[in-house]
Amino acid sequence: MAKPRRNQSAKHTTLEQTIRKATRQALHDIGESTPEAAWVGNKVQWPVTCTVGPGLEGAIACESSVGYVNGARGNLIYRGYDVVELCESSTFEEVAFLLLYGDLPTRREFESFNQRLVQYRFLPHTLRMMMSSPLEQMHPMAALRLGTILLRQRLSWRDQDAGEPEESEAIAADEDTVPSEESEQQGESRAEYQFRLWPADKPQNVRKSADNSAGIQTCLRLISGIATLTAAIARIRNEKLPIDPDPSLGYAANLLYMMHGIRPSPEEARILDIALILHADHGMNASTFAAMVVASTMADIYASVTAGIGALSGPLHGGANEAVIEQLQAIGDPSNVKAWVVKTLRNKQKVMGFGHRVYKAYDPRARILGPLAKHLSGHPSIAGMYQTATTLEKEVVAALGRKKAIFPNVDFYSGLVYQALGIPLPMFTPIFAVSRMAGWTARVFEYLKNNRIFRPRAIYTGPMDLAYVPMNQRNETGENT
Ligand code: CMC
Repeated sequence: MAKPRRNQSAKHTTLEQTIRKATRQALHDIGESTPEAAWVGNKVQWPVTCTVGPGLEGAIACESSVGYVNGARGNLIYRGYDVVELCESSTFEEVAFLLLYGDLPTRREFESFNQRLVQYRFLPHTLRMMMSSPLEQMHPMAALRLGTILLRQRLSWRDQDAGEPEESEAIAADEDTVPSEESEQQGESRAEYQFRLWPADKPQNVRKSADNSAGIQTCLRLISGIATLTAAIARIRNEKLPIDPDPSLGYAANLLYMMHGIRPSPEEARILDIALILHADHGMNASTFAAMVVASTMADIYASVTAGIGALSGPLHGGANEAVIEQLQAIGDPSNVKAWVVKTLRNKQKVMGFGHRVYKAYDPRARILGPLAKHLSGHPSIAGMYQTATTLEKEVVAALGRKKAIFPNVDFYSGLVYQALGIPLPMFTPIFAVSRMAGWTARVFEYLKNNRIFRPRAIYTGPMDLAYVPMNQRNETGENT
């Protein structure tokens, strides 16, 4: 990892001061949020009337208490808590608990949750299977889909191990510190057991009744496992062998450690932790919806989150963080920005890292990631690019802010942060997926309690009443003889 070289403005500012300043500023700018959900705490009366645009814009597909995005104000809430405040005071592990169970954990609950997450980091068998594929020839998001499927594949062979971590015989130095208690056998002896239990359970209070259900254990297994898969993919692409997780490290620190083979500084771990908190959930975004659509068919949850990973990979969604860096590299010097913006907008091209379907105000996640990028801007890996980014933000907001309500989104500054943390460019979107796994599983878990298969309609605009013409009577121009 590159050695930090602080710039002038960040010289006397500690990371915690930067975080506090950014979160206070964000809370001040966003102001009080009064959810349009006059429904909070009330029963929703279905059917709900709403105006729907192309791309399901404005459509309401379900109820959820996992999270809330206020696009007009630029506010993001997880289970009632402002994400900005969670960044200041919480950790990714605690946020994952909050999203899944609906409330902040007690100390005991958190310790037991965390112990599970640590156990599920160890995936020696899945990694061995994964390493027999040509991962270095695949985009890491494709490799991540494969890894997730292999994680499930292993369970298909031995379903009775559903709730158990993979045996840790591959662990060497850290073996003594791996919690060794065996969990009870759970689940049905069939591939669909994870989902079958959930609707049948219909727990009123997930926190109390479902802690040991196969369903929630599968969520934990995925939340933890995806970090191990991602780190292994990063190393294999770099012609290095995966390394064992370190149970003594927190989630973010361990992820950096498994990628780089070096234990990160507390500052590096804290910065990644905040990035993970900010990406954990975001309403009915495309990847969450994709995961929910697959889940609603009662397919396997591994298939469901694999669909989420596929949707996230696109440059209009999670893939934008990678595209932003490529864009900044292509622009080069800040002095090129103005002309580049004029040309890009004249050609009706999108500026990556800007705009959002829901936010018509500044994305709250960018309010935190921007200052973090500034804090890291002394890193040689991003020093020049950071200046280009801030100049680009000024130009694009001047051109499109007032006119089209287009501002930086979460992906604009996250890539700079990842780059400064030494994360390779192709791994940016997988890091997004690592975090979003918490939101995917929480929302799928919630939805399946009252599952109804997703089945929207399309407006048919094609012809009617055509008479079938046999192939030998059709000519190559398309006009039938
Ligand atoms: N640059 C320039 N113009 C834009 C941009 C942009 N980034 N985003 C929207 N517009 C314009 C667009 O050209 C259109 O103008 P007009 O009405 O004159 O035709 C108008 O704004 C509406 O755009 P849209 O594409 O219909 O908006 P949408 O709600 O369908 O798309 C979006 C939202 C995020 C896909 C889009 O803003 C975009 O493509 N942004 C760039 C890619 C990006 O940064 N994606 C990350 C999204 S946030 C995190 C995540 O989801 O992963």
